[in-house]
Amino acid sequence: MATLAELANQRTLLDEPTIDHLLRLTASWSLLSDLSFSDMLMMARVDDSANNAEDNFVVLGQMRPNNRSTLINDDLVGTTQRSIAWPLVRLSFESGTRIVGEAKIDDVADVIPVWCVPVRFSGRIVAIMVRLQGPLRGPASLYEQAYLSIFERLCSMVADSTFPYREQDVAGPGLPRVGDGIILIDGRGRVEFATPNATNALHRLGIYAPAEGRTLRELGLKVRVVERSLEFGMPAMEEIDQGHDVAILFHCVPLLEHAEVSGVVVLMRDVSDLRQLNRLVLNKEAAVREVHHRVKNNLQTISSLLRLQARRSDEPETRIALGEAERRVRSIAVVHEVLSREPGEEVVFDEIVRSLVLLVEDTVLALHPVEILVNGELGTLSTDLATPLAVALAELLTNAVEHAFTEFGGAANDHVGVVTLNLYQEDDHAIAEIRDNGRGLGRDFSLDLPTSLGLSIVRDIIRAQLRGTIEMTNVAYADGGGTFVRVSVPLNARL
Ligand SMILES: Nc1ncnc2c1ncn2[C@@H]1O[C@H](COP(=O)(O)OP(=O)(O)OP(=O)(O)O)[C@@H](O)[C@H]1O
Ligand SMILES: [Mg+2]
Repeated sequence: MATLAELANQRTLLDEPTIDHLLRLTASWSLLSDLSFSDMLMMARVDDSANNAEDNFVVLGQMRPNNRSTLINDDLVGTTQRSIAWPLVRLSFESGTRIVGEAKIDDVADVIPVWCVPVRFSGRIVAIMVRLQGPLRGPASLYEQAYLSIFERLCSMVADSTFPYREQDVAGPGLPRVGDGIILIDGRGRVEFATPNATNALHRLGIYAPAEGRTLRELGLKVRVVERSLEFGMPAMEEIDQGHDVAILFHCVPLLEHAEVSGVVVLMRDVSDLRQLNRLVLNKEAAVREVHHRVKNNLQTISSLLRLQARRSDEPETRIALGEAERRVRSIAVVHEVLSREPGEEVVFDEIVRSLVLLVEDTVLALHPVEILVNGELGTLSTDLATPLAVALAELLTNAVEHAFTEFGGAANDHVGVVTLNLYQEDDHAIAEIRDNGRGLGRDFSLDLPTSLGLSIVRDIIRAQLRGTIEMTNVAYADGGGTFVRVSVPLNARL
């Protein structure tokens, strides 16, 4: 479908600034359509000079009301309307005045009331805005009459080129609509009337006094934009909050008459729910981050206490045991540290791996020089999976650094201990392989029979908690052997 600009360029003689004016008018005219409960058409004269044809009109735009059913089911945009069928449009175009009458439209059985409003730009009539009025549902209510009077004033502004506003559009996504609530303010800033929805919104702001005849300031409402709109004749918007729960958006649309501001239409929308939702999301994120931060701090405190206690003990065994416990606590703290920076259901596991490697290198006082290499990555994992997996990997890395190289002697030896951690995803599983070039597992080693704590923790986490598998085997390399551990855990298990 052709756009207004394309149609105007192809079918009319309108120049760029004029087309731009019509574009801005149609960006805001849903307000007019809603205020008048009517379908609207924008018609411009077709350039038919080549065919010597009579004066016809092309429909450049069509708008349906949001608050009534439409009269016209067809899409008329781009159609040519013969001026014989639209004598009033032609009359309005030629006289430059608003013409009110009746018209017969192809797919509508009855004649319908129409308004032809001239659109003036740079002193010329450039198009006709046609209002096609639907049947009235009984006598117009008070506020319907008020809507129509506002509509009429805006039509005069269209003919005076003061609507659309140069500064901004007054309708569109996110902006309050007619049905949200309207307060009409007179030229002196006093409320002329408020629709039922607008009155509700005032109640939400704690204002129960009758509004008619008073200024918003007298009512106890500080809406600076109303005064600004009255003073400068520009549309303006402001959000007024009442406590934490209520937020009302005020959108001021000035009414101009002979270059004077004669009133302001205030469209009001209760945006409390939206704001609350935003606040809730923000608050929840901040709270989750804070919780992780505190958990991390607490774990670090515990690990310091363990370290202190280890130092005090004279028994080497106790020292080692407390030292191990300290390391375990710290490896859990690593995960919370990462989560406190980017909270959520998921966490970048590779950041955790980096911290874990530093932690293992830090804590394990290997007599033998050891290098830890990491290949590949697991990407983002759910936090339910990341925390236990991190603890298990810390145990396995620690074991490799601690036990694999005990038979190779001290640093003087030219054997270099290498521990590699391979990480990858395969068939919806996270795979971690830990390989070392150390002494390998003892002959009577069995993963299923460890009485020691480290591997019991690993077994419990990988098999029972994460429903995964773990294998530990000896491998042979050309230049020796070592231990190979393969851990596989499902990514989507319901934990
Ligand atoms: N990479 C490895 N190379 C050689 N032996 C290993 C390796 N990993 C584990 N082992 C052997 O398996 C045993 C059990 O390991 P486990 O982690 O359960 O206990 P631990 O490390 O001795 O004590 P802790 O409970 O403090 O971890 C170790 O004592 C060690 O003999
Ligand atoms: Mg261990």
